[in-house]
Amino acid sequence: MNEKLPLIELKNVRKAFEGQTALDGIDLKVAEGEFLGVVGPSGSGKSTLLHIMGGLLKPTGGKVLFRGENLYEDLKLSDYRRSVGFIFQSFNLLDELTVLENVILSMVVSGLQGDKKTALKALEKVGMHERCNAKPSTLSVGERQRVAIARSVARDPLIILADEPTGNLDTENKLKIMGILKALNEEGRTIVVVSHDLFTLKVADRIVELVDGKIVREVAGNGFSWRS
Ligand SMILES: Nc1ncnc2c1ncn2[C@@H]1O[C@H](COP(=O)(O)OP(=O)(O)OP(=O)(O)O)[C@@H](O)[C@H]1O
Ligand SMILES: [Mg+2]
Repeated sequence: MNEKLPLIELKNVRKAFEGQTALDGIDLKVAEGEFLGVVGPSGSGKSTLLHIMGGLLKPTGGKVLFRGENLYEDLKLSDYRRSVGFIFQSFNLLDELTVLENVILSMVVSGLQGDKKTALKALEKVGMHERCNAKPSTLSVGERQRVAIARSVARDPLIILADEPTGNLDTENKLKIMGILKALNEEGRTIVVVSHDLFTLKVADRIVELVDGKIVREVAGNGFSWRS
């Protein structure tokens, strides 16, 4: 039987910034519907890896395949990016806009209609619909992170790439965020999360460890599911 084509495959991916190596020969397959965790010390290349997977940063060498097609050579990057939702640690929410307007804007920017109903549905998924008229500056850090997730979800992404989404959060909020990401995974979305949190390791199907731009270890996660 044929092995199912990975959703994303990195083959000997290398990235150097001004001669400095950030990624040094990464081979990695991400299956459709998988929840992958990425850990590693500061400067080990985790964010660089996410950016390359998200179609935001062209590698210096090697190949990135999306469903077997060469992402940086044969595919239209803008189309690919539309199927990817990024969640950053610094939420990049616009403070002059309300929570709802932030979500709508992100849909419009990625070429969608940006209808209120879809935006509110995304906010409901993260439990923030009742705060839709609030300004981000009036929200707690955990609430802002939930709005940032809603902003990605409203675009209905196939893949969610999250860079330390639980950094600076207390335990209760960490659990909430990981529960939301797990629920999105259970809807069939492929998730890659950079995180040092034990909670991530528990919900992930698999964890890879990066050191000095190389994958040094790969372990199975617990694949736990829970509702917070
Ligand atoms: N735009 C850039 N220009 C120059 N060097 C960069 C750039 N982006 C990353 N680097 C370098 O590449 C290496 C890997 O950086 P990266 O941000 O991927 O690490 P990280 O594992 O995400 O670290 P952290 O846990 O601190 O976020 C670092 O040495 C960093 O200084
Ligand atoms: Mg980083």
